Amino acid sequence: MQLKQKLKQMIQKSPLIWRAYFRVKTEILRITNLRYYWYDITQNYKAMNWRTSDPKRAIISSELIFLYHKLEKGLVMPGPKRLFGLEPARSLMEILNKWDTRNLASDPVYLGALGTLQSYHDRILEFNLDEKDVILSDVKAFLINHDCQRAAYNTPCKLMTIDTSQNSDHKHFKILMEARRSVRNFIDKPVPREILLDSISMAQLSPSACNRQPWDIKIVSDPEMKKKLLSHQNGNAGFGHLAPHIAVISADASCFFGVIEKPEPYIDGGLFSMSLILALKANNVSSCCLNWCVRPKTDKAAHKLLNLAPSQRIIMLMAIGYAPEDTSVPRSPRRDVNDIVSFI
Ligand SMILES: Cc1cc2nc3c(=O)[nH]c(=O)nc-3n(C[C@H](O)[C@H](O)[C@H](O)COP(=O)(O)O)c2cc1C
Repeated sequence: MQLKQKLKQMIQKSPLIWRAYFRVKTEILRITNLRYYWYDITQNYKAMNWRTSDPKRAIISSELIFLYHKLEKGLVMPGPKRLFGLEPARSLMEILNKWDTRNLASDPVYLGALGTLQSYHDRILEFNLDEKDVILSDVKAFLINHDCQRAAYNTPCKLMTIDTSQNSDHKHFKILMEARRSVRNFIDKPVPREILLDSISMAQLSPSACNRQPWDIKIVSDPEMKKKLLSHQNGNAGFGHLAPHIAVISADASCFFGVIEKPEPYIDGGLFSMSLILALKANNVSSCCLNWCVRPKTDKAAHKLLNLAPSQRIIMLMAIGYAPEDTSVPRSPRRDVNDIVSFI
């Protein structure tokens, strides 16, 4: 130890050698830290692989959404009406049969799938798209065996428009965007559960790849648990402990198949997080994202603490609570819009 210290002092005497030493050290660290990718590789290999016999509900649900989303999309495509979606429709009926045995029949995903299948059937019938009866009878028989009246929604539905005139939706959205800021001070008052739920259900309206909705959110309010959780995160010093709630937003990698989809949990989870921040602000609740850039060891510790499945990728933590009156926030100006846009 002493020898190391002495050597360090010797090197520090020469700025040139010190800089070279520092550069080499940084480079070695950068290279050795590449080993963290191995954690990603093994995690992705384990999670991103749909096995049809897999009992996990997230997987069967994602597979179902993935398939019926193809039919939903087909139902809104412009152009002449044609027969489409034979394979997805068949696979969909197969998976729905699996759901029947699992007592999940009141699930909105299941009902959404049935509703879509019903619309698919109606479309084929209305435009006489299946003269050779390649699939129509099968779908009809399937629907007779399933209670389609319970279908959660009709699809497709009409696109809502936004009022862009003065004092309009556009103005309200701009106000919300300008008012939202990262807040690093909170009063000691919990956010009522109904407000949290209202915000989370608005965030659920975020887009996700094939509508698979891989997100999961844990709201941690227990003081001991919050403390432990925050000890794993390096950006909350001085204010994290004031937040009455720390949300943990994660996304389930097993909702995706094949490593080709590896960014999706982060993209979908990020979109959900942004919507949540805005929805909270629309309820006058403040928040601050807390990065989850941690070593595998820390990531595993947090999974254990929260009892999160290994396939859940933690996207970020979020401090949530009410800001005191007259709270200050950094100005944090944005770059010039022309610096970030190119019209091609
Ligand atoms: C993914 C992500 C991670 C962040 N992590 C932290 C953090 O650990 N601690 C913190 O104080 N702020 C964190 N922030 C907040 C940013 O510093 C903040 O969004 C940025 O400075 C812009 O300021 P504004 O949000 O007030 O507009 C994070 C933001 C994002 C999007």
